[in-house]
Amino acid sequence: MPSQFMQRLRESIMPLHDEAEKSGPLSAIPEKLVTLQEYRRILERLYGFVFVAENIIQSQVQHSGLDYKARIRVDHLVKDLIFLGNTRESLIKIPVCQGMPVIRNTPQGLGLLYLFEGSRLGGLVLSKALKEHFGFRGYHGYAYFASNGMEVATMWAYFKDFMENYVQTQGGGDDIIIAAKKGFVSLNMWLAG
Ligand code: HEM
Repeated sequence: MPSQFMQRLRESIMPLHDEAEKSGPLSAIPEKLVTLQEYRRILERLYGFVFVAENIIQSQVQHSGLDYKARIRVDHLVKDLIFLGNTRESLIKIPVCQGMPVIRNTPQGLGLLYLFEGSRLGGLVLSKALKEHFGFRGYHGYAYFASNGMEVATMWAYFKDFMENYVQTQGGGDDIIIAAKKGFVSLNMWLAG
């Protein structure tokens, strides 16, 4: 099946992706310029976003036909933060993002989810750098970016087909794109803050 919609979606977020990749706080990871303290702070900021986003996504995509539970990532952030010295009590105190876009239907939920599914690809680049830079092993300290060893290529291929099929049968492409863009703007602002 030609992936026309996914191509459109990809093009719509690429300027925001370039911003995150080239000048956001995450850019220090592949450059191996990040200290352990800075890395932990990045994970805490991500936690504050992913925690809220995954609750929103879960409530909107539960009837979409996608097995979303298998794609939840906050547990990997918790695993990394605890490895780096946080306690369960300290996680509760991490500030969470208040500037999320309003997500009110399934396509919008899928648009937000697309960001996190796509970011698994870049996560593999980051996890390689983290292993080299900090000597991490065994998915300890870099579980989030490495998707804790899950089959990222297979998951991504499945997700892309699912999205293409969803838009062809249910519509909602514009809502997906708007939510993905708004979500990316919020994430970039949140990570920079
Ligand atoms: C330093 C940070 C980042 C790096 C190095 C990076 C790198 C990459 C790479 C290598 C790919 C796959 C290759 C490609 O299709 O061009 C990719 C795709 C993607 N990334 Fe990132 N990324 C970063 C940050 C992010 C962030 C913060 C997000 C949003 C949560 C994100 C979302 C995506 C998405 C949605 C795709 C899939 C694009 C598509 O539809 O094909 N990335 N990234």
